[in-house]
Order: sequence, then structure tokens, then C-alpha cells
Amino acid sequence: MLVSAKEMLQKAQAGHYAVGQFNINNLEWTKAILQTAQENNSPVILGVSEGAGKYMAGYKTVVGMVNGMLEEMNITVPVALHLDHGSYDACLKCVEAGFSSIMYDGSHSPIDENVANTKKLVEICKEHNMSLEAEVGSIGGEEDGVVGMGECADPQECKRVADLGIDFLAAGIGNIHGKYPANWQGLSFETLAAIKELTGDMPLVLHGGTGIPTDMIKKAIDLGVAKINVNTECQLSFAAATRKYIEEGKDQQGKGFDPRKLLAPGAEAIKATVKEKMEIFGSIGKA
Ligand code: 13P
Repeated sequence: MLVSAKEMLQKAQAGHYAVGQFNINNLEWTKAILQTAQENNSPVILGVSEGAGKYMAGYKTVVGMVNGMLEEMNITVPVALHLDHGSYDACLKCVEAGFSSIMYDGSHSPIDENVANTKKLVEICKEHNMSLEAEVGSIGGEEDGVVGMGECADPQECKRVADLGIDFLAAGIGNIHGKYPANWQGLSFETLAAIKELTGDMPLVLHGGTGIPTDMIKKAIDLGVAKINVNTECQLSFAAATRKYIEEGKDQQGKGFDPRKLLAPGAEAIKATVKEKMEIFGSIGKA
């Protein structure tokens, strides 16, 4: 059964590790991530962006697929199904579809509007026993057409949103989605520490997990990050393994064109990437 991410992140925060949110794109992705979580006894959050939801034929399809896998694959570790960077309307749709967690991304709106919508969603999530992530300070890079400049959040605004009754908070600290440019300045630990100081026990979320050096990840966890989002890195691993399979001509040998064979190396590559991240985040054995 899907669970809210509230409890797993409170435990992570208290235990000084982080739970990975791995974004899903299709059945292979979902299965690979769930298998890895189960094999490593780790809690996990499956992230679904609005674009990925559309691609997978809608939120209800996603809920059906994930619930089916939890049962048929005998998954016993805590799993949350979480909307990633949702608009207000998408949040309502995911509540209705049966997600167990949502992120409302009001970071592109004026802070008063962000606060008003977040407040409404706090009540809705409480009614449905779901967890809610809010965002302050837009996260740079591009994700499904949502473009941000990679700013650092204002710690006072973070406190204002954290105090609304949300379960975890994403705050920009110089992180961006996708690959980091060569001239990237690194994470702003000063900002992170200032946010932590004002938001107390609120688990903090680090988006743009792809390509952040391990020492920075560990320092961020020390400073209160309890959830780390990874998307691009699984896509890159999947693409590289699939490219290798095709370049070696394996799709042209025997029944190598069978999608169950063609997509297998990519799925294995996702599993390896997810395991590597779980090791760095410290969530192995924490289910
Ligand atoms: P990356 O694609 O950079 O790993 O970021 C993922 C993310 O933050 C999803 O919200």
C-alpha cells in the first residue's frame, strides 16, 4: 500500500540520512526503482512530473500501475507516489487519482499567492492523509518546460511557508535540474543553514540531485536535507545502456529486438544508479 512521505522523511531527518525521490517515466522505470528499493530495504519516493503523468496516459494509469506492482512484486518497503512540481490543478487531480503525496510548486507565483494556495492544499492533504511539499525560490534549469534561474530562497519566506503546516520544503540553494554547467558555483550552504535555523525540524528537499558531488550531498544531509530528487541521472544511465546494446548490434541478433530484451540493459542501468544514490543518501536498510 502506498504511504504518505511524511513519516519516512521525519525518520530520515532524525536519523541524518535522506530518502531518494526517483522520477518515473514508464513501467520499466517504476519496476526497476521498486526492485532496487526492496532489494536494499530502503524507503523510496516515486516522483511523477506533470509531463511524465501525461506521457503515462494520466495519473489514474500511474496509480493503477504502481499499486499493481506493490502487490504483485510483494513490495514491503515504504513507497510514496508523489507529484513533482505540480500546479494547483494538477495537485487536485492527483489527490483524486490516489497519489499519496504531492508537491505544489508555487515558486513562480508571488509569495502571497504561493502561501494562499499552499494553505488550501494543507487542508486537502490532511483530509486525505497525504503529504505535501511546497517550494520557495525557483530551482534552476529546465524540467518539462518549467524553466527556473537557480536562485537562493529567502529564509524568511521559507519560514512563512514552512509554518503553514506542510510536511517538507523545497528551497532553492543554487541547485538546478539537469546537468550542472562547468561554471556552476556549487550549493549555497550558507543559505541552507539560514533556512534550517528558521524552519527547525522541517525536512528539507534538495532538487536537481543529478551531478551534485557526493561531499556536497553529504554536507546538505548534515544540514537538514532529508529528501533528494533524482531524475536526469537515471535517464542518462538508461540511454547509455540502450545505446550500447544497439551499437553492439544486439537488437539484430536472434530475438534481440524483443522489447523485453531491448529495454533490459537500460532497466539494469537504472537499478545500478538508484542503488548508488541510496548508498550515498544513507537510506539502505532504513525501511
Ligand atoms: P535532476 O533531473 O537534476 O536529477 O532533478 C530531479 C528533480 O529535482 C525532480 O524534481
